[in-house]
Order: sequence, then C-alpha cells, then structure tokens
Amino acid sequence: MFFHTQKLINPIAADEPDPAAANILQEGLGGQFGEMRTMMQYLFQSFNARGDAKPFKDLIQGVGIEEISHVELITTTINLLLDGSSRYQGKNAKTKAKGAAAKKAPKEPGAGGTTPLDEAPFAPNTHHFIVAPQCALPVDAAGNPWSGSYVYASGNLVLDLMYNLMLESTGRLQKCRIYEMSDNKTLRSTVAFLIARDHAHELAFAKALESLGVNWGKVLPIPNFDASQYPEVKKLMDLGIHLKQHHFRLDGSEMGKIFQGNSPVNDGTEVETEEEAPEGAPIEDLPERPEEFAPGLTPELLEMVEAVKRYK
Ligand SMILES: [Fe+2]
Repeated sequence: MFFHTQKLINPIAADEPDPAAANILQEGLGGQFGEMRTMMQYLFQSFNARGDAKPFKDLIQGVGIEEISHVELITTTINLLLDGSSRYQGKNAKTKAKGAAAKKAPKEPGAGGTTPLDEAPFAPNTHHFIVAPQCALPVDAAGNPWSGSYVYASGNLVLDLMYNLMLESTGRLQKCRIYEMSDNKTLRSTVAFLIARDHAHELAFAKALESLGVNWGKVLPIPNFDASQYPEVKKLMDLGIHLKQHHFRLDGSEMGKIFQGNSPVNDGTEVETEEEAPEGAPIEDLPERPEEFAPGLTPELLEMVEAVKRYK
C-alpha cells in the first residue's frame, strides 16, 4: 500500500503563465518517454516481479514511486503555466489589443466586457481551455492521449532493466530539448530537476545491470551528453542530486545493495541510496477560475463546503 505527503518533490520557480511552454511540457508528462510512462512501467514491472530478486525489485519499485511524485510535479508545473494565461500579456501573447490599447488590456478575463477566453484559440492546445480549466491533460505535446501500450514490462529482469535505461536516457534527451525551447523560469525549474533525476535513474538501472555482470567499461553509451551546460541543471548536479536515490519505503528497502559505490560511468563519482526522504516543497492551491466554471461552487454549494470544513 502507499502513503502520501502533501508536498512537491521540488519547488517550482515563479514566472508568467505561458500556454506554449505548458504545451511543450506535456511531452514530459504524457509522451511516450514521459513521467506517466516511467511511473506505470516501473510499478507494473515491480508488481509483476516473479522469483526472489528482492534488491532488484526494490530498486525498480523505489524509482517507480519517485515517478509518482514526478507526475505530480510536472502536472502542477503545467497548471501554473496555464493558470491565468487567458489574461496572459507576456512576450508570446497573441492579444488582439495593440499599442496603447494592449497596455490598457484588462488583467482579469472578461473584465470591461471583453471575451473571457479570447486568448485560448491562439494556444497550441485549445483542450487546455475547453476540456480542462487551464490545467494539465494526460496527453503529449501533440495532443495524443497517453497510452498503456507504452509500458514495457516483459517479466524478464535483464530486458526490463535495459529498456528502463533506454527510457530514462530518451526522457532526459527530450527534456534537454524542451529546456532549450523556453526560458520560462517555471518550466526550467521543473525540467532542470527532472533532467538531473533522469540522470540518477540512468545510473540506477546501469548499476543494476552491472550487478548482473554487464561490464560497462568505456562503452556505456549513455549518458553521453553533459546536461551541466544548463545553469539550472548544473546547480542541482553540484548538489549531487544525480548521484542519490531515496528508496521511498517505510519498511526498509534492499535497493542500497545495488545502488552504492562507484558510478557505473567510471568517472570517479560514487552513487548512494539515501535513507532520508526528500524535504519537499509546499503545494499551493490553484485559485478559482470563474470564466472556466471551475470549481463551479455556487454560494449555496460553497456554504456546504464550509460546513464540511467545520465538521470535527
Ligand atoms: Fe521521472
């Protein structure tokens, strides 16, 4: 069974909302190599594990549980990038108002008799406004729904580990491309964190394969590009977060029998399983969006909500 702490696994930096940035980030959530896939793949592999290879099952499951937090983090980031974007006046806004009129453009959707969601038709994915109330969707950046057929859980431990290594490497590659598409601080804070964590997970699966006799030597094909060229990623790597892995278990884990000692990339660094859970960051409630009828609480319904809150 699982328990939950109402915190984010990493803080999200504040910046202007930006529907284009929100949409490219959807690939990291619902794409073939996104967080929904890593979460489901590792959980299915661990739930379906046969035989007694406990340290390997614990390692796959520990990473899988972290991925639940990544889904939460990237979803929240997309929400923050979308929320309020119907009044978005930033550099990518396609507002109909020009010149002095743009400066006077109302800050609240619908204020002054304007069309409340008139920015939405210019968004890369109008479903962010029609299907969801300026919130994340379980789709990729092209709007394709997430698919369970992405999940690879063959039941063969070596094949599963090899595929997991490829999955993390491709995920990191795609996130580096997403990083290069936007300088929005909200997007970059989350993408930088996920790049560093994908790196840790690449090392975790490489280390597991090493324990099964793979001698990486100099031929480890991945990671073969250095994400420390991005300042936000470098900051996190200087803290060593790409070399650590918490096991996310309350009853102890055997992950540390695999994830410890020399890094499989043989660069002189050491990897480490951490007993301490990440500190986490507070989650703020999203505000109401009356123009989206979300959450749609009339004064009567609101009174009932308040009554529930008062209940002891
Ligand atoms: Fe992840």
